[in-house]
Amino acid sequence: MKNDIIRIPEEEMERQRGFADAFAALPRRPETYYIVTYGCQMNAHDSEKLAGILDRMGLRPAPDKREADFVLHNTCCIRDNAERKALGNVTWLKELRKERPDLLIGVCGCMVQEPGMAEKLIKQYPFVDLAFGTGNLHELPELLLRCVESGRRVVSVPENESTLAEGVPIRRASSLTGYLTIMYGCNNFCTYCIVPHVRGRERSRSSRDILREAEELRRQGFREIMLLGQNVNSYGSGTGDLSFPQLLDECASLGFERIRFMTSHPKDLSDDLIRVMADRPNIMRHFHLPVQSGSNAVLEAMNRRYTREKYLERLRALRAAMPDIGVTTDLIVAFPGETERDFEDTLSLTDEACFDSAFTFIYSPRVGTKAASMPGQVDPDTAKARIERLIAVQEKNTARVFSSLIGQTVKVLVTDRSRRGGGEVTGKCERNISVNFPGDGEDIGRILPVKITAASHTTLKGEAARE
Ligand code: SAH
Ligand code: SF4
Ligand code: F3S
Repeated sequence: MKNDIIRIPEEEMERQRGFADAFAALPRRPETYYIVTYGCQMNAHDSEKLAGILDRMGLRPAPDKREADFVLHNTCCIRDNAERKALGNVTWLKELRKERPDLLIGVCGCMVQEPGMAEKLIKQYPFVDLAFGTGNLHELPELLLRCVESGRRVVSVPENESTLAEGVPIRRASSLTGYLTIMYGCNNFCTYCIVPHVRGRERSRSSRDILREAEELRRQGFREIMLLGQNVNSYGSGTGDLSFPQLLDECASLGFERIRFMTSHPKDLSDDLIRVMADRPNIMRHFHLPVQSGSNAVLEAMNRRYTREKYLERLRALRAAMPDIGVTTDLIVAFPGETERDFEDTLSLTDEACFDSAFTFIYSPRVGTKAASMPGQVDPDTAKARIERLIAVQEKNTARVFSSLIGQTVKVLVTDRSRRGGGEVTGKCERNISVNFPGDGEDIGRILPVKITAASHTTLKGEAARE
C-alpha cells in the first residue's frame, strides 16, 4: 500500500490557533466542557487532545456533565453495543437540554467516521450541534467557533484520511503515565474490523517528533510512557525512518522507569523486538498480543495472516527471552463460519497459551467490512454459550497465573487510592496486573516493592516491603 501521508502544514495549525483566540474573545460563549470517552486508549488519548484544545480556547473542564455548557461524546464503533451505548447517551442529553436550553451537544470520534453516519446524525439526531471525525480533530477551534457564532449545526467529516497533525495541545489525564501516539490508522483490514475504515490508513509520526515529545514528558516528570498505535510493530514501514524495535530502544534510553506499548500484531512480532525488550529492564514485562482465534481456518477468514502454530511459536520466543513476562490477548467467538471444532481450537489455544487475562468478544458484524457479508453467521444463543465456555477456561488460567505470583515480590507504580477505600492504594505491577495494598496518599507516584499475599479474580493483594 502506498504511503502518501500529508502532514498538516504549520500554517494550518496556526490558523486553528487563531480560531481558538477568536473563540476565547467571544462575549457570549460556552464557558465549560465535559468530554465523555468511549473505546480504546487511542480514543482516551484523543480526548486528552480535545481537552487540550478546549483549554486553549478558553473553556474550563466541568466536574460533571450536568454542569457543563458543552458536552462532547468521543465515540467508538468497534462493536454494535459500543455504538448503541454512545448514541443512547447522546440522546439522553436531549433531556438535559430541556433544563438547560443553552447546552451545546457535540459528537466526535470513530463512530462519526463510519460511512453514512454523518447523514444519519443530521437526519435522526437534530439535537446534535457539532459533529466531526477522528481525521479532523485539530479543526475543533474552527468548527466550534463556526457553530457558536452562527447558532447553526456543524457536521464536518473529512474525506482525506491520510493526514497527520503535529503540535495539538494536550491536557494529560495522568501525571504519571504519558500516552504517546506513534502511529495512526491501520492497513491490516482484518475482515471483521471497522478500524481501518474509520481511522484511515497507517501513518507513522516521524521518530524525531516522537522522541521530542518523549523528552518533554521526561522533563515534566512522567515516570511511565505508553506508546500507542493500532499495530505498533509495523511502525515506520515504508518511511525509511526507525523500525519499532529501534524506536522503542531510543525511548528506553531516555530514563523513564517504565515503558509500555499497545497494540502488537502477532504477524509482525520480530526477534529484534524481543531482543530490545529483554535487554531493557525498563520496558515492562507485559505483552498484549491479540490472537482472536485458535482455528487456522478462522484466522485465515479473518485475514490475520498467521497460524495458530506461528502464534504459539512467537509466545514461546517471548517467554524464552523473558520468563517473567505476562501475556494478555483479545479473543472473538462466533466469527462467521466458526464451527464447534473451530471453537474448540480456540479453547485449546487459550488453555495452552495460559494468558494472564483476555478480553473476550462475541463477533459483531460491522457495515462495510468483509465479514459482515460472509455466509455462516452464527446464531446468538450459540455465540453466548461459546463465550461463556471461553471465559470459564480463561478464568481458570488467570487463577493459575495469579496464584503462582503469591509469595513473590513485584514492583508497583502506585497511581490511586483503592476504590474500596480502607487505607489501601492501588497500582500496576510490571506485568500490568492491578495490585492493592495498605498505604496512603503519600505513596502515589512511587514505585514500591510489594509482596503478593492473595489474589482475587482480577487483582492481586499484597504488603509493601517498606524499610
Ligand atoms: N489494533 C488492535 C485492536 C483493535 S480493536 C489489534 O489489532 O489488536 C480491539 C479488539 O476488538 C480486537 O482485538 C478484536 O478482538 C475486537 N474486535 C474488533 N472488531 C470486532 C468485531 N467486529 N466484533 C467483535 N470484536 C471485535
Ligand atoms: Fe482492526 Fe486488525 Fe487493524 Fe487491529 S490490526 S485495528 S483488528 S484491522
Ligand atoms: Fe478505538 Fe473504538 Fe475507534 S476501539 S480505534 S475507539 S472504533
